[in-house]
Amino acid sequence: MTNTATLIIDGQSYEYPILVGSEGECGIDIRELRNQTGCITLDPGYGNTGSCTSAITFIDGDQGILRYRGIPIEQFDNGPNFIEVAWLLIFGRLPSQVEYRSFANDLNAHANLDEGMKHHFEGFPRTAPPMAILSAMINALSCFHPEDQDCEDDETFRMAAARLISKIRTIAAYAYRHSQGLPYIYPDHKLRYVPNFLHMLFSQPYNHFECDEVMRDALNLLLILHADHEQNCSTSTVRMVGSSQANLFASCAAGVCALWGPLHGGANVEVLHMLDDIHKNNVKPEEYVQRAKSGQARLMGFGHRVYKNFDPRAKMLGAAAERLLTSLGRQDPLLDIARKLEEIALQDPYFIERKLYPNVDFYSGIILRALGIPTNMFTVIFAIGRLPGWIAHWREQQQLMANKIARPRQIYTGNVKTDYTPMANRNSTGA
Ligand code: SDX
Repeated sequence: MTNTATLIIDGQSYEYPILVGSEGECGIDIRELRNQTGCITLDPGYGNTGSCTSAITFIDGDQGILRYRGIPIEQFDNGPNFIEVAWLLIFGRLPSQVEYRSFANDLNAHANLDEGMKHHFEGFPRTAPPMAILSAMINALSCFHPEDQDCEDDETFRMAAARLISKIRTIAAYAYRHSQGLPYIYPDHKLRYVPNFLHMLFSQPYNHFECDEVMRDALNLLLILHADHEQNCSTSTVRMVGSSQANLFASCAAGVCALWGPLHGGANVEVLHMLDDIHKNNVKPEEYVQRAKSGQARLMGFGHRVYKNFDPRAKMLGAAAERLLTSLGRQDPLLDIARKLEEIALQDPYFIERKLYPNVDFYSGIILRALGIPTNMFTVIFAIGRLPGWIAHWREQQQLMANKIARPRQIYTGNVKTDYTPMANRNSTGA
C-alpha cells in the first residue's frame, strides 16, 4: 500500500496521506481537501468515512473480530465482571486489585439518587417508555451534580464516570419500579454491580431478591458484550455532542436517544416482538423468512453495517442463553424459534448474498427474558452495557480533539437564490 493517495480534479493532481492503523486499516487523510480543491466528499450514512482515530475498540467485520483495548471478547467469557471491563475501556488497561476495589467502592458510594431526583419519576406516566425516562434522568444528573460539569482533571472525570455508571443502574431500576407501581428499593452496599441491580429491580421491602451465580454471570457477560462497539450510531452521537464541550451526562443522554431506535439498540425489543408474534400466531419460521426476503417484514436481529461474516457477540450470547435456560431448568420456545430462523436464513441465498448474520440483538432478549426483565426494558439494559464505551469515547474525544467541534458539511440541493413574495401577492393555494 502506497502512503499517499492522488486525486485528479480538472487535470490538477492532489496528494493526500494514507494513515495506517495498528491493525492495518487504511484511511485517506482528507483534512486539507476542501481548502485545496473546493470539494468535499459525500458519504450518506458514513459507511466509508472515519470520523476519528480511536484506540478503544477494534472490529474486523469480515473476520468476526471484536477486541476491547486489544483483548478479544471471547476471553471475557467466564472471566472478569462488567466493572473490570468498564475500567479497561475507560482507562485503557486492566485495573490493579487496588484500582478495581477503589472504583467499585466509588460505584457503591454513588449508587443512590438525590432524593429530589426520585420525585421526578412520579411525574412520568406509568406507561412512559423507559428509554425516555433514562435519557431525561441522565440529563437531570447535570442539575444535581454541577461539580461534574467540566471533568477537566482526571479525578473529576473518574468520579463523574463512577457516578454515572452506578446511577444509570438505579435510574433504570426506579423506572421499572415506577411502571409497576412498586416502591423504590434502595441499593445495597453489600452487593456487587449486577446483583445490586437485580436487587433494586426485583426485591420487595419484605423480601430480598437473591441473585444466583448463574443469573449474575449471564447478565455480567451480556453487559460486557454490549460495552463498546467503536463508532456505532449512539457512540458517534456521544462524540458529536461531546465535541461541543457539552458535559458527560448530556452527551450520554444523547447516546441513549440514538440507541433507542429500532435499527440500533431498539432492535432487541423488536426481536422479542418478532419471536413472540411467530410463536403466538403459529407462523412457520420458513414462512417468516420468506416474508423478510420479500420485504414484508425485517428479520430483526439480523444484519450489520460492519459485520459481514458473523457477529462474535451473537455466538457468545446464543451459547449463554442455552446455559442459562439449562441451569434454570427451563425451555423457551422463543429460543427454539430463533435457532430455527438462524438455521434457515444462514442457508438462504438472500441472506448469504447480502452477508446477513445474527447480530448482538438476536439472542440477548432470550437471556433478559429468562432473568425476568420485561421486554420494554431490554434497550435500557443495552444502554447500561454501552455506557462505559460512551464514557471512554467521550473522554478520548476530549483528549484528542479538545476544541474541535464536529461539524460535517453537505451538498446543497435546494432552491437557488429566490426572492421573498409578500403574502398579498401569493396565490391562495400557496403553490
Ligand atoms: C446494533 O453499528 C453497530 O455497531 C451497532 C451495534 C452496536 O453494538 O452498537 O452492533 C448494535 O445496532 C445491531 C443492529 C441491530 N439492528 C437490527 O437488527 C435491525 C435489522 N437489521 C437491519 O435493519 C440492518 O441490517 C442494519 C440496520 C443493521 C444494517 O443496515 P445496512 O448495513 O445499512 O444494510 P441495508 O439496510 O442497506 O440492507 C442491505 C440489504 C437490503 O436489501 P437490498 O435492498 O439490497 O435488496 O440487506 C437487506 C436490505 O433490505 N437487509 C435485510 C435485513 N438487514 C438488511 N433484510 C431482511 N432482514 C434484515 N434484518
